[in-house]
Amino acid sequence: MRDAAISRHLLAWYDHHARDLPWRIGPSARAAGVRPDPYRVWLSEIMLQQTTVAAVRSYFHAFTTRWPTVADLAAAEDAEVMAAWAGLGYYARARNLLKCARQVVADHGGRFPESRAALLTLPGIGPYTASAIAAIAFDEAATVVDGNVERVMARLHDVQTPLPTAKPELTTLAARHTPSDRPGDYAQAVMDLGATICTPKSPACGICPLRGECAARAQGHAADLPRKLPKKPKPTRRGIAYVARRDDGAWLLETRPDTGLLGGMLGWPTSDWDEDPAPAPPMAADWQPLEAEARHTFTHFHLRLAVHVASVPRDATPDRGRFHPAGAFRRSDLPTVMRKAHDLAAATLRDL
Ligand code: ADE
Repeated sequence: MRDAAISRHLLAWYDHHARDLPWRIGPSARAAGVRPDPYRVWLSEIMLQQTTVAAVRSYFHAFTTRWPTVADLAAAEDAEVMAAWAGLGYYARARNLLKCARQVVADHGGRFPESRAALLTLPGIGPYTASAIAAIAFDEAATVVDGNVERVMARLHDVQTPLPTAKPELTTLAARHTPSDRPGDYAQAVMDLGATICTPKSPACGICPLRGECAARAQGHAADLPRKLPKKPKPTRRGIAYVARRDDGAWLLETRPDTGLLGGMLGWPTSDWDEDPAPAPPMAADWQPLEAEARHTFTHFHLRLAVHVASVPRDATPDRGRFHPAGAFRRSDLPTVMRKAHDLAAATLRDL
């Protein structure tokens, strides 16, 4: 009974406090029979992996304006999609996004399959995303477990086991609460609770719809949960980025191989990234090292990219990469670390 009370309280709260999100059909429209577009649900879930709602909004708008349907996206050029994704990070998501769109068109007639099990067969759709799409787009009673859900469950049940050890236990608890009525709204309600009330720091327990049921709140230590095992410190890797500008303003850029970091993205040719990288300039030139470095943190390491710049003549021929005319170059097509290198180099190249 207690489990049913929790989903009931949460859904009643969601009916009044659901966030207005561009991919969402809110609770009243949904109750009136409006169904979400599975393409928009899928796209938003892929974008929201490891990324905040605030960061995703403008990308979601840009993608759905340019590619309104999964068939439009499937027909896009790889380079266009990678450029449109630039800045969102975790670029394997964008490569899988395209693969998935093409598979939905080729194997499913342009319609997303409607069950969690069938969604799991598509590229880039793992257990979390399959559950989220099945629940939100198709109202399957799938259990959706992300960081928000883990936090809410750990507090509700006062789970003291640290993450990641506690994951299976938190998943079992989440499954117990998943209702068969309105599972799509319920999944979004837990996400909204985790984003607005049951936040990682300073949760707003006083206004929480589950305050009467929350075991950690009763103990006065909701903010201390979930416990987490200490993280390993990240190592630092180094590299050299080579920024060459031709005297007609063209920039030397290279599309990175599909596999590996920033796979498929456009960027400055670089050396390998490791402890002590060997220089690997993409062409002979009078390379000048800058004093400042482009720094960026990836999932498993910090990167410090030295930036070497060169001004080269119009007939220069690179060993790697291709010159992009000034008019075709857009800083926004580059991933964040390459934008940082650009900004450092641009000032110096103007003066060379
Ligand atoms: N985070 C992940 N998926 C989400 C969704 N559908 N709505 C809000 N936040 C989310």
